[in-house]
Amino acid sequence: MKILIIGSGGREHALAWKLAQSPRVEKIFCAPGNAGTAQIGENVPLGPEDIAGLVDFARGQGIGLTVVGPDDALAAGIVDAFERAGQRIFGPTAAAARLESSKIFAKDFMRRHGIPTAESREFTDSGEAQAWCRAAKYPLVIKADGLALGKGVVIAETPAAAAEAVHRAMELGVFGEAGRRIVIEEFLQGVECSIHALVDGTGYCLFPDAKDHKRAFEGDTGPNTGGMGTISPSGTLDGPLLEWVKTGVLDRFVAGIQADGLPFRGMLFPGLMITADGPKVLEFNCRFGDPETQVLLRRLQSDLLDLLEACVDGTLDRQQPVWDERAAVCVVLASGGYPGSYEKGKPITGLAEAGALENVVVFHAGTKAAGDRILTNGGRVLGVTALAADTARARELAYGAADGIGFDQMQRREDIGGA
Ligand code: AMP
Ligand code: GLY
Repeated sequence: MKILIIGSGGREHALAWKLAQSPRVEKIFCAPGNAGTAQIGENVPLGPEDIAGLVDFARGQGIGLTVVGPDDALAAGIVDAFERAGQRIFGPTAAAARLESSKIFAKDFMRRHGIPTAESREFTDSGEAQAWCRAAKYPLVIKADGLALGKGVVIAETPAAAAEAVHRAMELGVFGEAGRRIVIEEFLQGVECSIHALVDGTGYCLFPDAKDHKRAFEGDTGPNTGGMGTISPSGTLDGPLLEWVKTGVLDRFVAGIQADGLPFRGMLFPGLMITADGPKVLEFNCRFGDPETQVLLRRLQSDLLDLLEACVDGTLDRQQPVWDERAAVCVVLASGGYPGSYEKGKPITGLAEAGALENVVVFHAGTKAAGDRILTNGGRVLGVTALAADTARARELAYGAADGIGFDQMQRREDIGGA
């Protein structure tokens, strides 16, 4: 089967790497891909926003399954367009992906279906939001309703900070339409982790848990990023908590989409806060996480194509994926300045040597090939991913491999997988 993967990040390189191991996969295309996906298959110069071009490409090449990485393509209706054209595609429709692309929609869904989440209120009027902030307890969390490149959440410690966040989102429009409506919610204290579950409309298949490190700097300080590194397992979801997540979140989610007639088929990736009152959902993502996918797919021993197809076909109940018991750690190497502005085009050294180490895979994110050199081409550049008997050893292996890789102004966190 020919596969088309949409996107260009580390997640898409990991998807390509894993799908290439399936004996049923004949060729992988990645649109637009990066230097890593180009080593596995063929990159196609079409961006995720060029939905008509991608449908034409899939039809012309006889693609058997298209797999969507990024959220904005899902929100823009890429799955709907492929389905209308009779092309097989993995991911939720735009209507179902609203669970990620509108926090107000997601909050309403969770409230109606008894899924535990932070207490919140929605606002469409900035005056009302400002009045609410003046009387609230702090810290307070202010979220743009729509997709805002991971920057739409502000944790305000003071009324002045909350007023500023409301003003920027609703009055100045710094997130565009995404921030004209906002959710203001209580601050939850606890340990953050996430799960991934394939959902086929009537059931789900749970992946192991993973933990991202979202802040730019050590000790969870600095600005939020797309993710500076991940570990799996996270060590936070033990047996009873995991059971609780299944019954309290996933069972209710599947019952909810059926009750609402929301045909969700794809990856559900809820962000969770494990609070003193049990796990609560911070947000729903309707796609594979990045860099969560890098660690999860290192641990998946079964054929990913079988799982994705079963999800599209509604036959997940027949799948029982096998997972590596070992721990995976992914350390992101980013461009200096990320998540703010950064330079591109820096030559990367040491890639081949690091990738040749046993149990290490270097996933590319923002990279591009230029002749026989590989250059930086984005904020997150590489994800050095290692598998070992436990997190401490996987961490040592990943950092050891990452030490051999260099580019000008490289930035990384030193505490991924640390205590
Ligand atoms: P979200 O995009 O909703 O996951 O929010 C981004 C990040 O903000 C999360 O990963 C949390 O670290 C933090 N966050 C979001 N909502 C809350 C909350 N209610 N309480 C505490 N932290 C939160
Ligand atoms: N790593 C967080 C995300 O993919 O949203």
